[in-house]
Amino acid sequence: MSMKIIKADILDGINKIIDKSVDLIFIDPPYNLGKKYENNIIDCWKSDEEYIKWVYKWLELAINKLNNNGSLYIMNSVQNMPYIDIFLRKRMCIKSRIVWYYDSSGVQAKKHYGSLYEPILFAVKNKYKYTFNYKDILTEAKTGSIRNLMDYRKKPPQKYNTCKVPGNVWYFPRVRYKMQEYVKHPSQKPEALLERIVLASSNKGDTVLDLFSGTFSMGRVCKKLDRNYIGIEKSKTYVKIGYKRLEL
Ligand SMILES: C[S@@+](CC[C@H](N)C(=O)[O-])C[C@H]1O[C@@H](n2cnc3c(N)ncnc32)[C@H](O)[C@@H]1O
Repeated sequence: MSMKIIKADILDGINKIIDKSVDLIFIDPPYNLGKKYENNIIDCWKSDEEYIKWVYKWLELAINKLNNNGSLYIMNSVQNMPYIDIFLRKRMCIKSRIVWYYDSSGVQAKKHYGSLYEPILFAVKNKYKYTFNYKDILTEAKTGSIRNLMDYRKKPPQKYNTCKVPGNVWYFPRVRYKMQEYVKHPSQKPEALLERIVLASSNKGDTVLDLFSGTFSMGRVCKKLDRNYIGIEKSKTYVKIGYKRLEL
C-alpha cells in the first residue's frame, strides 16, 4: 500500500494530485471557529463570506480529483454546512446528510441549547454507480433482536436481525485526553468514525485523499484497512506527527 504525506497549503497540495485519480475524499477543514492550530495556523477569516469563498475554491478542485465513481465526505459546522450543501448538490449527488453526535465536553450552555453534533455530507459523482459496502459497516441492532422478538412480516416469521446498516445519525465519542488514539490537536476525529467511512465507501487497494489531515488518523485507518493514502496538511508540527504515526 502507498502512504503519502504532502506538506502544503491546501490549494497547492490539491494541485499536485492527478485529476480523476482518487476513489474517496475525506475533508475536515478548519470551520472558521477561531481554533488555534500549531505553527500559527489560525482558524479565522475576515468574514463568513471570505471563508465560504475559500471553501468553494478548494472544493471545486477536490471534486476534479475524484474518479467517475468516487465518493466524497465533508465535515463542517452546522452554520456553514448549508452553503456547502447548495454548492455541492450542483456538482455531485448528495446521498446522505449525516449527523455525528457525541457526549458533552463538560461545560453546559446556560443561555441556549449546547452544540452536541456536527454535520457530515456524503456525496457521490455517479448517483447509480458508486461503492457502498453496507455489509462491512453493520452495527448491533437496538430493535426486537435484543428482546428475542419474532418478525411476523417475514414469511415464515423469523427472529429479528441482530445487525443493521447504520442510519444517518452516528454516535461516536470524541477523542479525549488519555484515550489511546489521542494526539495533541484541537479537532482530532475518532478513528471509529473514519473507519466507517473508509469501509463503506472504498475497497482494499483504493486511494483515499484526506484534505486537512491534522493528526493523520485517517492515514492510520487507511493503513489498517489496506487502502492507499494521500494526506495534505500545512502545519510542520502535524506533518511530523503524521510521519511518526504512519511509521514512514
Ligand atoms: C479540523 S482539523 C483536521 C483534523 C483531522 N481530520 C484529524 O482527525 O486530526 C484542520 C486541519 O487543517 C490544517 N490547515 C488549516 N489551514 C490549512 C491550509 N490552508 N492548508 C492545509 N492545511 C490547513 C490545520 O493545521 C488542521 O490540522
